[in-house]
Order: sequence, then C-alpha cells, then structure tokens
Amino acid sequence: MADRYLSFTGTAPGRFLTRRLGLPQPAVLRRWSEGSPGFEGGVLHLTAGKSQLSGPAFSSPSGTPAAVLLDATGVGDVEGLAEVHAALHPVLRSVAESGRVVVLGAPLDPVDHHQAAAQQALEGFTRSLGKEIGRGRTVNLVRLTDASAAESTLRFLLSPKSAYVSGQVIEVGAAQEADVDWSLPLAGRTALVTGGARGIGAAVAETLARDGARVVVLDVPGAQADAEQLAARLGGSALALDITAADAGARIAEALPEGLDVLVHNAGITRDRRLVNMPAERWSSVLEVNLASVLRTTDALLETGTLRRGGRIVATASIAGLAGNAGQTNYGASKAGVVGLVRSLAPRARAEHGVTVNAVAPGFIETKMTAAIPLFIREAGRRMNSLGQGGLPADVAETTAWLAHPASGAVNGQVVRVCGQSLLGA
Ligand SMILES: NC(=O)c1ccc[n+]([C@@H]2O[C@H](COP(=O)([O-])OP(=O)(O)OC[C@H]3O[C@@H](n4cnc5c(N)ncnc54)[C@H](O)[C@@H]3O)[C@@H](O)[C@H]2O)c1
Repeated sequence: MADRYLSFTGTAPGRFLTRRLGLPQPAVLRRWSEGSPGFEGGVLHLTAGKSQLSGPAFSSPSGTPAAVLLDATGVGDVEGLAEVHAALHPVLRSVAESGRVVVLGAPLDPVDHHQAAAQQALEGFTRSLGKEIGRGRTVNLVRLTDASAAESTLRFLLSPKSAYVSGQVIEVGAAQEADVDWSLPLAGRTALVTGGARGIGAAVAETLARDGARVVVLDVPGAQADAEQLAARLGGSALALDITAADAGARIAEALPEGLDVLVHNAGITRDRRLVNMPAERWSSVLEVNLASVLRTTDALLETGTLRRGGRIVATASIAGLAGNAGQTNYGASKAGVVGLVRSLAPRARAEHGVTVNAVAPGFIETKMTAAIPLFIREAGRRMNSLGQGGLPADVAETTAWLAHPASGAVNGQVVRVCGQSLLGA
C-alpha cells in the first residue's frame, strides 16, 4: 500500500495545505539509484578536540556540504563537548536536504570516567540532533579507533544508501585484511537469502546481485514461482525449502557444495495476538521461523564449513524485539532472541571461522507484512519516526549489503536499526 500522504506533501498544493494545517511534512528521501549513485556536494570534515584516530586522514572536498563528518574521538571531558557545539552550530543550516551528519567517537575508556562521560554524551547528542534536524537529513555516531577499518561504514553512512538509517551508534573494531573492489564488492561470492521471494528479502537479493554476488533465493515451496522468477532475473538460483525443516542446514550445504559467503536470515512471520488470547501454536510457529531455524541453520553452516572464511551472517531482528510491541510477545521474543544470538556468537564466529555476525533491525518498512496492519496503526507506524515516513525494502537491503561487504570485517556483533529513528525503543 503506497504512502499517499507522502506523495501528497511532495506536491506544491500538498505542501501548502499541510503547512497551513500544521501537519507533518516528511521530506522525499534521496536514495541510491544507478543513474545517481552519490550525493552532489562534498563532505565537510570538522574536528572537536585532538583526534585520537590512527590511519589515513579523511579528505574534505569543498562545496555545499552534502555531509558533515565530525571527528570527536579526542573529546575527553565536558569542555571538549563545547567544541562539538562550536563545530556544528555554524554549519548545520547549510547541510543539504537528505544530507548526512556523522559523528566519530572513541570507545568508552573503562579507567577514565571523564572520557567515558564525554563520549557517552555524544550518543545522547547524536540521537537528539537526529530528532530535530529535519529535511530528510540523518545523524549517526560511529565509535572507532582506526579510520582505515571504517571505510565501508563511512562510505555507506555518507551516501544515499543509508537514507533510512538515523540515530544509530555503530562500533567499528580493528581493521581486518580484505581485497576490495569498491564497484563490485561481492563479485565471485555466493549469497543465500532466506525468505527471498518477496518483500525485504527480494530487495536484499537484488542489491547483493547488483554488488556482484551470485544469489540463491530460498523460500517455501509455495513461493517457488516468485523465487524462480527473481533468481532467473538476477542470474542466480532458487531453493524451495521450508527453513523450519530439521535438516534445512544440511540441505543448504548440499545445494552449495562450493560454499557460501553471505548468509542473510530474512525469512520471518508474525502471528499477532495478546498473550492472554494466544494459542501455543501461534507462539511456537513464530519462534520456530524467526529464531529456532536461524540458530539451527547458522550452527549447521558454520559446523560444515559451508560458510567460508571471510563470510558474513546478517540476521533480521526488528524494533519490536528492542522496544516491545503490544500483541507481539511471540514476535518480540523471537526478534530479541536474534539480537542475543548476534551478540554472543559474533566474537567466536570471527575467531573460529573468520565470519562476522550482525543484525539489521527494521522499523516500519512498506511491505505486504505492514500493508496488512489496520489503517490507523499503520499510519501511526509510518509517521512516528524522525523522518516521518516508512522505509522501503531497499533501505534494509542497502544496510545488509554494507554489512555483507568484504571491507566490513571490522563491523561485528552490531544491531543496526533501519527505522528512520523510530520513536519506539532505544
Ligand atoms: N516489513 C516490516 O516492516 C518489518 C519490520 C521489522 C522486521 N521485519 C522482518 O523482515 C523480514 C522480512 O519481512 P517482510 O516484510 O519482507 O515479510 P514478507 O512476509 O513480505 O516476506 C517474508 C518471506 O519469508 C518467507 N518465509 C516465511 N516463512 C518461511 C519459512 N518457514 N521458510 C522459508 N521462507 C519463509 C515468506 O514466504 C516470504 O517470502 C522478516 O524477518 C520480518 O520479521 C519486517
């Protein structure tokens, strides 16, 4: 179901009327497209405090800033925070529509509580600025020590690909070796997308194929026609499989004798009811698809070595799993479980298998799943975020592609919300 309000406010009479009535005026977001992959305008590079970063310095081309990159890694006390204000206050007005503000912070120092206080302050600052900046502009914080480890992350956050990612705090660890072709980063790699026949999964399959991957579209036998059609268009293949089957991992391994590089756990279902009205079957079916099968197939594909070194696992959580949602105790539990899986497995998967494990947590995304929500709740879900609109499947797909990128090896154990900074939850 299209967002008619957004289309209406995008017209001159719509803008006039909604302004007169004091209604929200969401900006039309600038997203990636083949003909227009980057922003016009440069990245303005500012510093607050003395930078603590190793690695090469960022370049700062001149021109109207499409983005501002503020290096606040050296902010170690409250006086240092004043420099954040001093740096950004004069330039914010000039940041372009759909522009970006990215703040670079340092990890919190466990033995210097003044530094930790100042660095944690950057989080509240980032989230607050995200809520007030408006005009389709986003604000995110990246905590890092080594600038060279963050290139894929900064390229993503400073591009139209991150249109619906705002108010996020992303930690980037130590640099990992990778040979990277920035124009076709997944060339020669195989990616499997569960629930790939439609919705977000189909967009993920398209985006990973755009980036050069050979894509395997997995979906239930009932969705096979769609899966095959999509796979044929993308030059990949389809796999008819119910992911809850006890031997799903073994069957995927069998279908991919040469191995797998990117595993996207996207298949998911909702069976909403308040707990007092929820039969056990509604509980177990959601927990089976959204969590148990994710755990089982992950274990099987790591144990069999199907997931090769340098591999990437991207699981799908939800803001309902972070904030909770009435009528979704089953769904919220399953998606919070995905977050637990990611946090626990990420360090071990990298140490033992050379594989990173991260999650995307979508907010309100325009798909068949959200089209089924009753009108008023749907409308509230769309507007209750800093960008005043729902996201598109492509927004989740671009975030997944960044996490799947060969240069994103330093991004591990992260849960990144793709929610336009929803008012729900952290
Ligand atoms: N749409 C949103 O706003 C939103 C928000 C938060 C999280 N999510 C999550 O994103 C993911 C995709 O959501 P969507 O909106 O595209 O959903 P969708 O219902 O449009 O598509 C889900 C796909 O998963 C497949 N699937 C379901 N059960 C399966 C099984 N047992 N084995 C294999 N495939 C199975 C379906 O056939 C379908 O093709 C889900 O995990 C969902 O929970 C969506």
